[in-house]
Amino acid sequence: MSKFIQAKGYLLYLIDAKNRHGVHSPFVYKLLDEVIYDKTTYEEFAAIEELRAGLVNDNRSITITDLGAGSTVNTNKTRRVSDIAKNSAKPPKLAQLIFRLAKWLKAENILELGTSLGISSAYLAKACPNSTVYTVEGCPETAKAAYTNFEQLGLENIQLITGNFDDKLPDLLQKTERLDLVFIDGNHRKEPTISYFNQCLEKAYEDTIFIFDDIHWSQGMEEAWEAIKGNERVTITLDLFFIGIVFLRKEQVKEDFVIRF
Ligand SMILES: C[S@@+](CC[C@H](N)C(=O)[O-])C[C@H]1O[C@@H](n2cnc3c(N)ncnc32)[C@H](O)[C@@H]1O
Repeated sequence: MSKFIQAKGYLLYLIDAKNRHGVHSPFVYKLLDEVIYDKTTYEEFAAIEELRAGLVNDNRSITITDLGAGSTVNTNKTRRVSDIAKNSAKPPKLAQLIFRLAKWLKAENILELGTSLGISSAYLAKACPNSTVYTVEGCPETAKAAYTNFEQLGLENIQLITGNFDDKLPDLLQKTERLDLVFIDGNHRKEPTISYFNQCLEKAYEDTIFIFDDIHWSQGMEEAWEAIKGNERVTITLDLFFIGIVFLRKEQVKEDFVIRF
């Protein structure tokens, strides 16, 4: 999708988007008030942002194996760690929102597709120290860098799996009893995104939250987001433009919200 079309989409989002005062669902109002708009600087943030600052200035180059959207499979190219840190990691505002959602949910089993250098994995692991965060990364050199970062932060509740989501997800799900939080942040294509969602749904229950990155990034992702919203198990969805949040809570009336963030 061109930058112009994306900018147009963002403008339309800003026109549509509501804050807590435009929302009539008590559940969503409370979630906005207590979690989404929570401005607390949690003490866990500092160490991760210090790590990010180091990565943003890290001039090492690594060889990238790109399995994601728009890439030719196994095209090897070199990228600086600093560029990956600047362009691939969730910015603090979004990473900290994901932290707050995991903390609020008291998630125990967390799945992330798309580790990159491990910034969002670290936020998830710190949000729920008693959880296990399973995170999957297809690029071996990037995964190696993430592993070092987890060691540097002293995080022991992350299981990093290196490989293609398509190959690793079925195995991982077979070994997992249930998932509390799923963050899909890689391979932003329509069919894979819907397929990962459907596979994870098998291990989801009423309180599971799904978070999808880049729901308006391409026509394919727009279509994936529409398909996810239309799934019969999905009740509440929140479109925050850069991410979409999905709830399966049965007592909620099915409703899609566009939320200013
Ligand atoms: C946007 S980055 C993840 C950023 C990370 N969640 C964060 O916020 O710190 C997406 C990652 O997914 C990986 N990826 C994309 N498609 C993949 C696939 N099919 N299998 C495995 N990894 C994949 C890429 O190598 C990339 O590192």
